[in-house]
Amino acid sequence: MGKDVIIACDFASKEETLAFLDRFSGKKPFVKIGMELFYAEGPDIVRQIKQRGHKIFLDLKLHDIPNTVRKAMASLSRLDVDMVNVHAAGTIAMMQAALEGLTRPDGTRPLLIAVTQLTSTSEERMQKELLISAPLNETVIQYAKNAKAAGLDGVVCSPLEAGIVKFACGKEFCTVTPGIRFADGEAGDQVRITSPQKAKEIGTDYIVVGRPITAAADPVAAYQRCLDEFVD
Ligand code: C5P
Repeated sequence: MGKDVIIACDFASKEETLAFLDRFSGKKPFVKIGMELFYAEGPDIVRQIKQRGHKIFLDLKLHDIPNTVRKAMASLSRLDVDMVNVHAAGTIAMMQAALEGLTRPDGTRPLLIAVTQLTSTSEERMQKELLISAPLNETVIQYAKNAKAAGLDGVVCSPLEAGIVKFACGKEFCTVTPGIRFADGEAGDQVRITSPQKAKEIGTDYIVVGRPITAAADPVAAYQRCLDEFVD
């Protein structure tokens, strides 16, 4: 599994996104396109960024009945993205259907990962509102094991959980981790955070970095700093 930094392109429009990517002259960072941009601009934004030579993590977090997810994944697979995701809460049957839909006639497919518990969900809310009585870490591990049983490639989790996921599912099982902040940076609304350097020590495969790069005075330098701390 190649270590890489994925930039979360949380912009509202195509113009803003392409202007941002233009700043990286020559470099082709791995980018994450989420719901905000995809719902605003549609599949064409994915094709355009792909055509520019970027790898793309399409972060749409599918969660529906297996048949719907299978067909939706077939549509996403034709967009030629590199990574897509589902909610593990959709069950093993849904994740298996996602994998089937994603697999192209020639046998190739994008990486498929599952969201465990969102990092915005506290253990208290999970227990009181969702009536999941297990500790949060146990839920994350169980969801990761379900994802592995369904044949998925890995999970999205907090960098602080990457170690226990690797321990439970094996080091080949991929972890993709947002919640990254420079040691001397602002936390913003993220709570369970760590630095690119610490994420490397924990052993995660991909870090997803948004505002520490997109809101930096010099985004290209901030991206390079992430690479220096995490990859090199
Ligand atoms: O700006 P920031 O670095 O906080 O961006 C993190 C990105 O990762 C955002 O696009 C956010 O939606 C996403 N994400 C997250 N926590 C999760 C899943 C996804 O922060 N559990």
